[in-house]
Amino acid sequence: MALIKAENIGKNYQTEDVVVHALQDVSFEIEPASFVSFVGPSGSGKTTILNLIGCLDKPSAGKLQVADTDVGMLERNESAAFRGKHLGFIFQDFNLIPVLTIYENIEYPLIMVQNIAPEERRERISRMLAAVGMTQQARKYPQQISGGQKQRVAVARALVANPALVLADEPTANLDSQTAYAVIGLMKKMRDDFGTTFIFSTHDTKIVGEAEVLFRLEDGRLTAKEMKGGAKS
Ligand SMILES: Nc1ncnc2c1ncn2[C@@H]1O[C@H](COP(=O)(O)OP(=O)(O)OP(=O)(O)O)[C@@H](O)[C@H]1O
Ligand SMILES: [Mg+2]
Repeated sequence: MALIKAENIGKNYQTEDVVVHALQDVSFEIEPASFVSFVGPSGSGKTTILNLIGCLDKPSAGKLQVADTDVGMLERNESAAFRGKHLGFIFQDFNLIPVLTIYENIEYPLIMVQNIAPEERRERISRMLAAVGMTQQARKYPQQISGGQKQRVAVARALVANPALVLADEPTANLDSQTAYAVIGLMKKMRDDFGTTFIFSTHDTKIVGEAEVLFRLEDGRLTAKEMKGGAKS
């Protein structure tokens, strides 16, 4: 059973004078525990498709199912609840909260989650800190750690509430290439350990090779699906 099923999705943005067709007739399926990338030039629709999957925006046409839910039909408050329950997010500029420690940043998504005993909460955060190799830095603040470390914290924060799916829009854009590989490798390890599906966008041609399933976007259209090993469909 697919985790995500997109059928003939379109997305238009109405600007003052013109309608921008950001996505047109996009169809695909993504299986659970996949490691997926959307790639394409600037303006091809990568952020738009991630925003739709992430229930941050709605398709203008077509049907989008995420975890058996038709997300195009969700009301605003339902979208927020759906995101909290099923989704994690990683951003290119890390988006850590500067006044919170590393520990508190990872704890943050759990504030919205009810019914977790305090010791269970501490255990989960400790497990995530260890999983991303940041236990020693738990009491530091974001401005006291490097960019690669910040993104590792963001990976932990995205996973702490145990989502089925993590979305990452250009997660390596602000990292040097060695650190970028390390962060992508960490995401893949988390997929292996927790079975979480990861979807990231990039226009970095080096990072693209790390995806196991690759969707190519051009001018808002899906032009290719490539599986690792070179098979195409
Ligand atoms: N809020 C908006 N209003 C109007 N047009 C928009 C809006 N957001 C995106 N677009 C347009 O939709 C198209 C797709 O944009 P999108 O941001 O998805 O591209 P992208 O592949 O993420 O690009 P980049 O690599 O630069 O991040 C572009 O033509 C863009 O100008
Ligand atoms: Mg973008």
